[in-house]
Amino acid sequence: MCGIVGYIGFEDASTFMMEGLSKLEYRGYDSAGIAVANAGKIKVQKRVGRLANLEALVKENPNPGHIGIGHTRWATHGRPSDMNAHPHTDEKGLFAVVHNGIIENYLPIKEELMKKGYHFKSETDTEVVAHLLADLYDGDFEGTVRRMLNRIEGSYSLVIMCAEAPDRLICTKKDNPLVIGLGKGENFIASDIPAIINHTRDTYIMNDGEVAVLMKDSVTITDRDGNPVNKEVFHVSWNAEAAEKGGYEHFMLKEIYEQPKAIRDTLTGRITDDNSQVVYEELNWTPDTIKNINRILITACGTAYHAGLVAKYYIEKLARIPVEVDIASEYRYRNPLTDEHTLAIVISQSGETSDTLAALKEAKRLGAKTLAVTNVVGSSISREADQVIYTLAGPEIAVASTKAYTTQLVALLLLANYLGQLNGRLDGQVEKHILTNLKELPTLCHEIFETVDDIKAFAKHYGFKEDAFFLGRSIDYAVAMEGALKLKEISYIHAEAYAGGELKHGTLALIEEGVPVIALATQDDVREKMMSNVKEVKARDAIVIGIGVKGDTELEKYVDHTILVPAADSFTEPILAVIPLQLLAYYAAITRGADVDKPRNLAKSVTVE
Ligand code: F6R
Repeated sequence: MCGIVGYIGFEDASTFMMEGLSKLEYRGYDSAGIAVANAGKIKVQKRVGRLANLEALVKENPNPGHIGIGHTRWATHGRPSDMNAHPHTDEKGLFAVVHNGIIENYLPIKEELMKKGYHFKSETDTEVVAHLLADLYDGDFEGTVRRMLNRIEGSYSLVIMCAEAPDRLICTKKDNPLVIGLGKGENFIASDIPAIINHTRDTYIMNDGEVAVLMKDSVTITDRDGNPVNKEVFHVSWNAEAAEKGGYEHFMLKEIYEQPKAIRDTLTGRITDDNSQVVYEELNWTPDTIKNINRILITACGTAYHAGLVAKYYIEKLARIPVEVDIASEYRYRNPLTDEHTLAIVISQSGETSDTLAALKEAKRLGAKTLAVTNVVGSSISREADQVIYTLAGPEIAVASTKAYTTQLVALLLLANYLGQLNGRLDGQVEKHILTNLKELPTLCHEIFETVDDIKAFAKHYGFKEDAFFLGRSIDYAVAMEGALKLKEISYIHAEAYAGGELKHGTLALIEEGVPVIALATQDDVREKMMSNVKEVKARDAIVIGIGVKGDTELEKYVDHTILVPAADSFTEPILAVIPLQLLAYYAAITRGADVDKPRNLAKSVTVE
């Protein structure tokens, strides 16, 4: 996720900004830049790659001044490059802008400004903000910012500097974090607390819609209409390490709780306003594009492979195209039956997994049309594939994947709808129902977080059991596999997932008194069958935790404990159902004292075979 810093005061702004940006490095980034205002001019310096590259540039070519804004960029619109790095300016260099988030309506604004003669240098959505400010400018910096805010849609935290008003910085936010640090004769802005805690612990945490004007001796905060807002000072008592995790004990927990935002970002701009259609602008396919595709291959590793298993159900149910899912390390060596009628989809959070990259190359060699679903712009896999869908989960730091998985499911569910839309196999009403629920998904995730105390209690109770079984049918089976992987990789409890119907073909022999079984029951069409499986394990005195859907009054009669996820539809409920499984794994690992963020023997990105 991008990082933002801003400074106004009496010290050298670049020194603060370089230090602040280095404190945000842990969040991941691909380029960095700063802008400093001095003697009525704004000087911008940006470099792709590590912060050290920018540091060398600033050292060679100092950027003195007491007011500045800085940014570390995690690419979303446009690849990592010097040009796409922030800050962005208008052509005259009057405004400099740093931005986290997505300007949803940047394209129509860009077209409008280009018609007026504005020239764009980057591929970013952010650059429109700088040109729009220049276009609206009437000598009143704050008024211009407010008018600009009336034009843009999306999610953002923005910090803006104006060469003609070098005594102030203006910042605002919507759905992205922003914090103001209060100093003496100096004030600070950052997207995250670690960037400022070496300088001050007194902060204002900005709320959506607030606009702050920072001068060196004052901070004035108003709402969107200009009414004053009285804010309480929030005193940060966290140490530097806790601050990096946003106050959470581990990155994994922070990332679990970031899922509503990550899902919202992944959905942004991809569903029409009336919820009737998916818009995958980056694909821009027509019915002709997929006319000759008669099968889909999905290949990936680990959690991403599990996302592929869910996608098989999505695509086959909604677009009626046969889907084969294979583990990338198997696919690459099995002399597969892939040809020019195959659409090969590879899924990879990092975009660097060596087996997935090799499988992609193999599918390409065999003539398939290739599509990558990845979280990292400019990654090897994104460069190798014919086309890319990005999940916008932001950097995932914990080894165990959480928000990357749920955003993969969201992107793949959109893709299944898109394919069904294109080949005419998907009923419009069904699609509208799914897309309406998808838009609600971020809000529904919050309801699950309310069950966390129950989950903690189960984890405490069962955390020391040596085996656990996960059961599901249909999409729930694929989700059960992810639940089992999460539990084993971070708590080291032996966990296995089974399709309910497979129990009696062997595994039932392992079910005995006290064995924890986590049974997923979100799928209506196989519900009765699933209940039979629950009865089978209960009859052997297993302890059953049932994951069902709100409104299900029957489930609790058959199981020992229930967790109910919000009701939506059979495609979105499994995305919700995985969240309690992530939390269960997390708290089981805590109970066992395991190193949650860095489980033994595992690495975040597997770039070797
Ligand atoms: C498990 C996990 C791994 C990854 C796998 C693929 O929590 O994170 O199983 O999913 O190593 O990684 P990517 O998605 O980066 O290709």
